[in-house]
Amino acid sequence: MKLTTIVVILGLISLSYTLTFSEQLRKQPCYVKSDLDVQGNIKADYMYDYDSVPEEKLWNDVDGTNYLTVVKNQHLPQYCGSCWAQCVASSLSDRIKIMRKGAWPDVNIAPQVFVSCSMEDNGCHGGDMITAFQFGNENELTDETCSIYHARGHDNGYECAPVVKCRNCNPYDDCFIPDTYKTYKVAQFGRISGEKDMMAEISQNGPITCAIDATDELYYNYTGGIFEDKTGASDLNHGISVVGYGVEDGVKYWHVRNSWGETWGEKGFFKVVRGVNNIGIESDCAFGIPEDTWTDQAYHTTTDEERKDPRNDYTNGPYPTKKVEKLIKEKEYTHSCYIEGEWTEEERNFVPEQIQEMNDEVPEAIDWRNYEGKNYLSWNKNQHIPIYCGSCWAEGSTSALADRFNIYNWLTLGKTSEPQLSLSAQAIVNCHAGGDCSGGFHGQVYRYAQQNGIPHGSCEQYIAHNADDICSAFNVCRECVGPAPPADETGFDKCWPVENYNRYKSKKVRSFSGAQAMKEEIATFGPISCGIDSTEAFHNYKGGIFEEKGQTSINHIISLVGYGVDQETGTEYWIGRNSWGTYWGEGGFFRIKMHSDNNAIERDCAAGYPDVEEDYSQIFE
Ligand SMILES: *[C@@H]1O[C@H](CO)[C@@H](O)[C@H](O)[C@H]1NC(C)=O
Repeated sequence: MKLTTIVVILGLISLSYTLTFSEQLRKQPCYVKSDLDVQGNIKADYMYDYDSVPEEKLWNDVDGTNYLTVVKNQHLPQYCGSCWAQCVASSLSDRIKIMRKGAWPDVNIAPQVFVSCSMEDNGCHGGDMITAFQFGNENELTDETCSIYHARGHDNGYECAPVVKCRNCNPYDDCFIPDTYKTYKVAQFGRISGEKDMMAEISQNGPITCAIDATDELYYNYTGGIFEDKTGASDLNHGISVVGYGVEDGVKYWHVRNSWGETWGEKGFFKVVRGVNNIGIESDCAFGIPEDTWTDQAYHTTTDEERKDPRNDYTNGPYPTKKVEKLIKEKEYTHSCYIEGEWTEEERNFVPEQIQEMNDEVPEAIDWRNYEGKNYLSWNKNQHIPIYCGSCWAEGSTSALADRFNIYNWLTLGKTSEPQLSLSAQAIVNCHAGGDCSGGFHGQVYRYAQQNGIPHGSCEQYIAHNADDICSAFNVCRECVGPAPPADETGFDKCWPVENYNRYKSKKVRSFSGAQAMKEEIATFGPISCGIDSTEAFHNYKGGIFEEKGQTSINHIISLVGYGVDQETGTEYWIGRNSWGTYWGEGGFFRIKMHSDNNAIERDCAAGYPDVEEDYSQIFE
């Protein structure tokens, strides 16, 4: 087939869905009002202080802190009508961040648990926010590193089971349920409507969820500004989260988080006129108040009964991960996720100007999880779910680069309202930009970022296996429309490549080693990626400053996000981010002794530099 023919066919596919998106939603809405008259459990003394409601409250910028967690796309890797679960999960995650005053770590409540397990709702065929909050009040919730999004529900191939709530996977072996994992819960929840109460609830407690009429104009034509429907649309078929409100040029608006990816609207968000119930946004809202399960962290302890639950499918998830079972059995994947690569002379010799000017002076300690009271890190990931994949090289490098963009936007430029960034490790795997699920070279990821730019995490959902069709446009950034496919169909025929996506670029690539250069890079620009010898002892790490000399063959890539000195012993250590989920180590992170080339940690490090218009100003003085 000629390229032009393919382009025309793709155009026709997207065009035919262009005409039917709102019809699809009307036929199969992702917001379906529950027949149950759930009112919530808000206590009688729950009241608003209306006098203290401000004119404007935008949770993406409150006194220089952005409280909004990462942007998602509910339609990946194939269409799923899970807006109701997405907005409930994001509003809870945002509220946890608010309750924790923005402190590390972000908690990303897994929408998948609702889609598979909230039986009052209909999975990928729609649901109601109030019944999802009720589910979260009666059941334990988990984070995305326990239960990654599949875009499949109990209605189309991904039934609720203990292993759906939290899983982990090893190479050559079945997946399993971790012995213990962190849990979250909804304390109170209730209904709300009308501008006045919505403003009070949002300003006093954080984002809420609302049903709206997602019109074709909103889906296809909205690119920014304050949206106003003039057709009287009020057919409630979609669920979103209202994350703030304000006034712009005399026009009152709601600031709304959508779950259609970063390529849509204002980097995944939109504004809509306030006070006139436009697209029905002020008529049917709900909210949940998270229970404080983190001050004294709540854990689930897995029982034998749960492990033996016949509904558990340990070998594979729903399609498309199903076929990977075969690959693992055939041992096509190797155990090491690190492949040694060649650095160019230029990459080895490059030293940024700001570092040259430092004259070897570095701060004693720095931690980007808490730099002057703020957390600059992108979200936590787990490379081993839904199935095992040796993508550490892609995770360590993309997370370090995403963190550097956050630092650059929020700290250097002072653009607090810029959404927290995540970069797609799956797009990197799909493009073989350094390797695949059998391991790879982190240097190539930065080169790819320099040459092509890396798409946002919401462009390509992490599915933990290699693409058939290497780096096709569809495998870099995609969007899909409904209806949700049946259990035995991929639904890919209703997806198309998104052409206009942000390409997050790196200016340069640098390869370096040794504690001094590593400290200089971390202190000046942010997290770096490094090789490590991931031994059995490292696998079993539970906390503290790790030390295990004499191991020198790199087989894993992690990111270093800071360093410090232990107050009692005077031991210097690195602060590392792993990609093995929050149930590993210190909430997914670790500390390791510095200067002894412990587990080869100081041998092979690399960094990229956010390529944005403005020049760098010095972060560290
Ligand atoms: C989108 O905008 C175009 C150009 O202004 C217009 O022709 C079209 O009708 C709009 N589509 C919808 C669904 O509003």
